[in-house]
Amino acid sequence: MTDFSTIYKLSLVTVFGLVQACSSSCPVLECWFVQEKAGRGGGLTAATSQEKSLLHIRTDAHSRSAGSQKVPADINPDRVYFVTDPAATLCHSSLNPPRGSVNKPQCEINPFLPQPSSLKWAAPLTDSALSPVYLQADWFSTSYQGLKKQLTVSSITRAPTASKEHDVILTVSSKTVSVKARLGEPVLLDCNFWVDPTSPLSGSGFAVEWRYQFRGDGRLVLAYDGKTDRLADAQEEGATLDFESLHEKGNASLILQEAKVRHSGLYICTTYLPYLVAQVAMELEIVEPPSLSIYPSPLPLAVPGQTLTVQCEASGFAPLSLELSWELKGADGSSRPLGSGSISGHKQAWDGTYSQTTRLELDTTALDLGRGGELICVAAHLGGTRQASVTLNVIGFSAPSIEDSMAMVGVALVLYGLIKFVSWTVTSSGSDEAATKDKKDK
Ligand SMILES: *[C@@H]1O[C@H](CO)[C@@H](O)[C@H](O)[C@H]1NC(C)=O
Repeated sequence: MTDFSTIYKLSLVTVFGLVQACSSSCPVLECWFVQEKAGRGGGLTAATSQEKSLLHIRTDAHSRSAGSQKVPADINPDRVYFVTDPAATLCHSSLNPPRGSVNKPQCEINPFLPQPSSLKWAAPLTDSALSPVYLQADWFSTSYQGLKKQLTVSSITRAPTASKEHDVILTVSSKTVSVKARLGEPVLLDCNFWVDPTSPLSGSGFAVEWRYQFRGDGRLVLAYDGKTDRLADAQEEGATLDFESLHEKGNASLILQEAKVRHSGLYICTTYLPYLVAQVAMELEIVEPPSLSIYPSPLPLAVPGQTLTVQCEASGFAPLSLELSWELKGADGSSRPLGSGSISGHKQAWDGTYSQTTRLELDTTALDLGRGGELICVAAHLGGTRQASVTLNVIGFSAPSIEDSMAMVGVALVLYGLIKFVSWTVTSSGSDEAATKDKKDK
């Protein structure tokens, strides 16, 4: 009985240990430590130095088991840090690839200087003076890019001066690093933040800001002062936050009610705490495949030697890149490329979508088209490939098939019969008339 309970206890402990090992598989990350070079004043551009560092991530400051690992030869032992992240945001699988993977998550760590923000929506956070003792420490800002664009995280960590034990105080993360959406759809750009609840900076308010950038052009999408519950005036139409979820869970995700072409670009979600700031960026692309129309449709009957002009218009697509081509599908099912035709310049519609036309000069003799077939316009686009087709009928083809010859003989026979019949009717009615005339004469 005692034996049994011992075994039972042992197995329980083993299972528990296994579960712990699996759930807390936090990574040991290689990270570029980038800082401005000290003591080189005078220059306008600040020189930076870049060194490899190693971050041991853990969820609990007391689990030091990871520390027993060897430090790679190319990393200075002074640049090995232990980062405690109780929320386990940094323990996501995309930051922890299997050993020996070619692709590695990206990481950069920089020294950070806590300071009050002067932005209108973040300034109230530092209204009341905070004990500066807490801020007197080493602070770092780190950005992480998970594999396969699954995750982006930015964290602010604090270490007692000259210590190598970093505590995560703030993380901002997003799982929508690269989003594609169709026109008119609602779009959710994920952004969540976490604040260490034991930090004196927690509970004294936050602010959230969303900015948009595209080819050097930037604008404020939305800014929210969570301390006074106020939105900045310059808010973009159709953009909103879930304020309940924001206050309860730090869910700062941006909701765009209806995707428009002009929404394509880079979005930056920034979270402010008193003296701290962290941000993540994500990309949104509005992708809409084209609608195709061919004209004239239906096509006129083609006679060999004639050149048919056919146009295919692709419209309502975004982004701009599009490949148009023509194909001919014969009666026997075989397909033949006819090239791209002559492609027009693009036009942009009021809603930002593009249109483009290709014109095909179809020389019916040169192509040996047989009896025709199906003329297909193909548009290859990021949003998918689209096709449109029209039936092409060629009459008086040069090389008739046996069926065609028989049909021709048939037609000839019928024609012959018709002519015969008509001429017979005409002659017989003519002789009738002659007969009546004869009677009258009598
Ligand atoms: C954040 O809020 C949005 C909008 O309500 C919701 O769709 C999303 O699932 C939330 N995300 C999380 C992680 O709770």
